[in-house]
Amino acid sequence: MSLASPVFPQPAFPRTRLRRLRRTPWIRTLVAETALRPADLVQPFFILEGTRQREPVPSLPGIERLSIDLLIPEVERCAKLGIPMVALFPCTPPERKTVDGREAWNPDNLLCRAIRALKRAVPEVGIMGDVALDPYTTTGQDGIVRDGEIVNDETITALVKQALCQAEAGCDVVAPSDMMDGRIGAIRAALDEAGFTSTIILSYAAKYASAFYGPFREAVGSAQALGKADKKTYQMDPANQREALREVALDIAEGADLVMVKPGLPYLDIIARVKDTFGLPTLAYHVSGEYAMIKAAAERGWIDGEACLFETLLAFKRAGADAIVTYAALEVAERLCRQH
Ligand code: PBG
Repeated sequence: MSLASPVFPQPAFPRTRLRRLRRTPWIRTLVAETALRPADLVQPFFILEGTRQREPVPSLPGIERLSIDLLIPEVERCAKLGIPMVALFPCTPPERKTVDGREAWNPDNLLCRAIRALKRAVPEVGIMGDVALDPYTTTGQDGIVRDGEIVNDETITALVKQALCQAEAGCDVVAPSDMMDGRIGAIRAALDEAGFTSTIILSYAAKYASAFYGPFREAVGSAQALGKADKKTYQMDPANQREALREVALDIAEGADLVMVKPGLPYLDIIARVKDTFGLPTLAYHVSGEYAMIKAAAERGWIDGEACLFETLLAFKRAGADAIVTYAALEVAERLCRQH
């Protein structure tokens, strides 16, 4: 899709009446330029230690943190509805958090156990593992902090160990969400050297320092650790568009298979430009705060939540996204399957 609008030769009104193609549902369906399918969606899950554990996340209505035994049937539901991939985020017990986040490369950590269990129980669903240290650090930062600074190269060494650990557990897609410079190349090289030549890398290539991540940080339990600190020395400045293209270009050159833009709706311009410029499979992350806003307004009866969700997700497709990570994936897929 090109952003420059082409000039069509068309007869003027009254010969041309665009409303002809909007008169009835069947003609609107016939001429729709984009469609939303369960196959376009990725469902994120928050994982808990223990068994039979289920905790609602207050700021994400409809989303619960689940222990692995309860996660399995939810991922089976995804498989039945045609959702191709799930994204996993572990809630690490506070006593396992350290300054260097070493729990991230413990082969028996919660995430790795969840990956192994799911690959056994529901092998047909793709698993995306988050590569970043924030669930494991006492600082809540995605990288290692030294003298108040998030140190890039030392963090890469840690991220490489974390990515290898996930690949060994059977993770299909490793997804670095940390925004360190050079991590994609280092992870690709290490995966290849270890024989994981088929492990896919999804780069959170253009990830902005956003206030829309609030509910997510509550859900994984990194909000308290982070306190008033921010991630502005590594995540992007919301003022920048051209810089996003540089970020994506570097990650592609380093070996990213898929790229993602995050957050979603406030960054549709970035999604469109990334897709137009590079043509790579491009994902959008409809992040926690965006989902929470829709749910909160719908609960008050101020908007039609379902209609707003569909409109939002369709907007991602129209902008050029090939797939969307959204907390509403299961809910939307269920609705789509009921319609047909
Ligand atoms: C952590 C990570 C974050 C999200 C996904 N991975 C939060 C952050 O960067 O602080 C946010 C997802 C969301 O808000 O839904 N690396």
